Amino acid sequence: MINITNIHKVFNKGRANQINAVNGIDLTLKTEEFIVIVGSNGSGKSTLLNLISGSILPSSGTITFDSADVTKLADYERSKWIARVFQNPMSGTASELSILDNFRLAAIRTKIKGLSIGVNDAFKKHVKEKIATLGMGLENKIEQPMGTLSGGQRQALTLLMSVMDECKILLLDEPTAALDPRSAEIVMRTADKLSHEFKLTTILVTHNLKDAYNYGTRIIQMGEGVIIKDVDTQYKQSLKQNDLFEWFG
Ligand SMILES: Nc1ncnc2c1ncn2[C@@H]1O[C@H](COP(=O)(O)OP(=O)(O)OP(=O)(O)O)[C@@H](O)[C@H]1O
Ligand SMILES: [Mg+2]
Repeated sequence: MINITNIHKVFNKGRANQINAVNGIDLTLKTEEFIVIVGSNGSGKSTLLNLISGSILPSSGTITFDSADVTKLADYERSKWIARVFQNPMSGTASELSILDNFRLAAIRTKIKGLSIGVNDAFKKHVKEKIATLGMGLENKIEQPMGTLSGGQRQALTLLMSVMDECKILLLDEPTAALDPRSAEIVMRTADKLSHEFKLTTILVTHNLKDAYNYGTRIIQMGEGVIIKDVDTQYKQSLKQNDLFEWFG
């Protein structure tokens, strides 16, 4: 469970360009809930994700994961809970390393295990099987440098890698924004599948209302740093796609 209480983030405090990017958000996410956050540019969606991941710390308010207060923990101290995928397909992987080496790094992200994990045949087989589930044919290219793959291929692999190690929370910030429709669909379906498979609490930020309709159990709309609409599971199920387009479009 994620509990966010009265969280604020002020940038450039006291200056002419002060911005209250997140301005008093209360939000409780149940374990295994999959919420979609929509909202116009600059409404504070990424800032909220950054506050949850710890890549920025709040000006005030508290964040807990289960019963642990993580409010003041740096991102690396929260990484055992969090898997994260960004908009830019280049940001999640090391270009010069092979697919296999990238997976190896992902697997030891929060553990100090020694690098033998990567040369182990069982690990290789495990990685190949995982990659095969994408249906992109990448399981035969695991020795190829990541930098030689397309954005969609990288993003799908980033997603798989992000959950290689133990984690409980999956944060997806516009993961398909830079992808063609087919790759975007593969990435979204994979995210949905992994979210269920690993029983993750998932937050997807997107501008794609079709994805907001098709994925997740709850929709939150942000505006100017606050939550302006919260569509719960029951309500979401009763919505037609057109209702959503009219509301948020
Ligand atoms: N590090 C920062 N320093 C100063 N201002 C920032 C910083 N990060 C974000 N902001 C500002 O905070 C506000 C919210 O930004 P944020 O990136 O959270 O919006 P967003 O909802 O993710 O928008 P988009 O849909 O464009 O990604 C914006 O006005 C932005 O310019
Ligand atoms: Mg953003």
